[in-house]
Amino acid sequence: MTDTAERATTTTPAVEDVLARLTLAEKCAMVTGLTPWIVGGVERLGVPEWTVSDGPVGVRGRGMGPGLVVPGESALAATWDPDLVHEVGVALGEECLDKNVDMILGPTVNVHRAPRGGRHFESFSEDPHLSSRLAVGYIRGVQSTGVGACIKHFVCNDQETDRMTIDVRVDERTLRELYLPAFEAAVGDGGVRSVMAAYNYVNGEHACSQTELLGSVLKDEWGFDGFVVSDWGAMKDTVLTGRGGLDLEMGSDDQWGRGKLLAAVEAGEVPEAAVDDKVRRLLGFLEWRGRLQGATDHTESPREHPEHREVVRRAATESFVLVANRAAGGQDATRALPLARGVRVALIGPGAAETALMGGGSASLEVYRTGSVLDSLRERLGPDAVAHAPGVSLRRSAEALPAEWVTSPVTATFHRAGELDGPSVASQVVDGASMNAWHPGRWPVESPEPLCARVTFTADLPVSGTYRAMAAGFGASRLYVDGRLVADNTVDTVHISLGTGAGASEVLLEAGEHAFALELDAHPARQLLIARLGLEYLPRTDADLADEAVALARDADVAIVVAGTSGEWETEGADRASLALPKDQDGLIARVAAANQNTVVVLNCGAPVTMPWLSDAAAVLLGWYPGQEGADALVDVLVGDAEPGGRMPTTWARDEADTPAYGNFPGADGVVTYAEGLYVGYRHYDARGIEPLVPFGHGLSYTTFAWGEPVASGVGTSFVVEVPVTNTGARAGSEVVQVYVAPPAHGVVDRPVKELRGFAKLRLAPGERGVARIELGERAFCRWDTDTHAWVVDPGEYSVIVAASATDVRGRVAVFVG
Ligand code: BGC
Repeated sequence: MTDTAERATTTTPAVEDVLARLTLAEKCAMVTGLTPWIVGGVERLGVPEWTVSDGPVGVRGRGMGPGLVVPGESALAATWDPDLVHEVGVALGEECLDKNVDMILGPTVNVHRAPRGGRHFESFSEDPHLSSRLAVGYIRGVQSTGVGACIKHFVCNDQETDRMTIDVRVDERTLRELYLPAFEAAVGDGGVRSVMAAYNYVNGEHACSQTELLGSVLKDEWGFDGFVVSDWGAMKDTVLTGRGGLDLEMGSDDQWGRGKLLAAVEAGEVPEAAVDDKVRRLLGFLEWRGRLQGATDHTESPREHPEHREVVRRAATESFVLVANRAAGGQDATRALPLARGVRVALIGPGAAETALMGGGSASLEVYRTGSVLDSLRERLGPDAVAHAPGVSLRRSAEALPAEWVTSPVTATFHRAGELDGPSVASQVVDGASMNAWHPGRWPVESPEPLCARVTFTADLPVSGTYRAMAAGFGASRLYVDGRLVADNTVDTVHISLGTGAGASEVLLEAGEHAFALELDAHPARQLLIARLGLEYLPRTDADLADEAVALARDADVAIVVAGTSGEWETEGADRASLALPKDQDGLIARVAAANQNTVVVLNCGAPVTMPWLSDAAAVLLGWYPGQEGADALVDVLVGDAEPGGRMPTTWARDEADTPAYGNFPGADGVVTYAEGLYVGYRHYDARGIEPLVPFGHGLSYTTFAWGEPVASGVGTSFVVEVPVTNTGARAGSEVVQVYVAPPAHGVVDRPVKELRGFAKLRLAPGERGVARIELGERAFCRWDTDTHAWVVDPGEYSVIVAASATDVRGRVAVFVG
């Protein structure tokens, strides 16, 4: 391994000139962010401050004002269209320019290892090839505008449980073949300017201090000449990271800031040359950006571009996966979708009026325009043709407890961490019950250690009935009413919305006076206590809502149920508790389908859910988190103005027990072992002979296609596969030709049954014939060899499998590779 201090980083005379004039103190100060989003410059040398911003589905900007919201990454992946994702990237890059943002913190390319992973919605796929192609499209699109992209999170940040401390145990071959390829492609093919080092540990070493991964692999082997930024507040030490491959500390100044890196250099613990390498990379970025010399400019001029709206709407329709579409019972053997003209629709489900456009956490932002399927469908079909009932409430957080209900002073008592039942170290009467924050400067008592707290008061509830109760804070929090636990929030809300309703619950409470106690555990990472308490009376229960919806369904020609999740259920900071649709949406769909045989389910979520009602629904359309134009796009597809162009980027299981990481997720005692190795996604279902609920690559069309025989030509390790496809239906539509490679039959090394190595999306007019042309290079046949620590090709006869999904093979052709 090359020592950071000795590494020859690409540089230019302009960068070297600035570097030579910087003092050691200036250099050490430049590598820690000034604020969460601003990186410092050096005024005397004309180096400006610059800005980074989340990412990946929009650009928040420093002001966190409204912005363009594109479809979620799992949706973008379902387009199977890197060129379209490139167009989306261009729109995001232009948003950055409008907001004076120098780098977007995206794309996210962590792997869909386990379907309950909280940030599943924020990543592309289970398959490294598909993720790689899309990441490259995204990055090149963003960077074509002169703005940087930052690929994240390096590496194996595939779950949220214990996200800052979990140690991922993964073997070398699995890392190389599944978890690293998207990063490798982003560096090699995408020319990405930045890589974000993750919160977790990998094989015992923290991701920010990885000598092997950040040094030997990323910078030496792959030749990455951009910079590595820490995830926000991720760094765990000063010296290891100082000597190592990390270049920029963000989200905190705990390790390098406040003079700590400077002191480490002065003490001889970190060589100055290592700091030079970091600064050189940051200056190199500014030079690439055309901002090495210039004024600091923090103005933001956000504006909506009509052409961005068009791209985002097209990306949404191209992402929707038509999972099933049967002949609808009541109509003349036509399929349920697109909707027949003149139908009267009962539009049901929580996503109808409150369509979820994006997931939660740092990937969420205020959107330029919201929309709902209800508004769009009424606009298209006429208000009288669409009756509406939500059927169930998906809201998870609760409104603040009304101040007028509080009948006593609100008292906060503070205790040493972990000693809530021990003696208090301080106590205060605070202004109100619903929101309180203590931080350095407002700390209740001098204490070097984090504190925990209990907030108590009494409140008079106006009516008896069902209430939603919520507790939230940084670190775990719990709400008790009359000593009874009513909300138990274990979600770490650092960096994510405090409005998270994780742990909120619906409780029956009597009218009258009750004693409330909100407990806040100390957050191990910081001196900060935030107490948020919600309590809201629910005038109508889910049972009332469901009865109303079923009655509407009975009277309509077609029932459409928009079911799913929201950013409160799918969010950074927490893995999902279950694959089932939250609340009793499964029960609602079953009841609606029983009441109306033309029931169409539109799924509005970013990650897999189970569908116990699948065979009872006439059609299922997977609408994802579709971005700001998503509601109109869904209606385009429902009424047949557009074709559902998506294919599954990930396998969806019948049951969680069928999934690859089952039993090894989310780990125990701080460790998660990727024991399934290479067998993630369809590689697992193929090898174990398990039938998925919805296979990888699956997606129906409104038209029909006939595939011809595949032909492969080429020699050595370079082949071209051609597949003729004809649109045999009456409508224009798209088909995705997927090319998988199966290894020689008697190979000595264990290999997956087949692996996706190429794909092409054809758009064909009625009657049109096209030819999908897919190139296979050396990597298509490689495996990682753990003896030589290198990619190898085992010579032999490989099978090139041409398929419409991982379980729908349309042809095979043998090629001799060697
Ligand atoms: C997330 C990153 C994000 C950063 C800044 C972190 O908590 O993991 O994905 O870019 O915050 O918001």
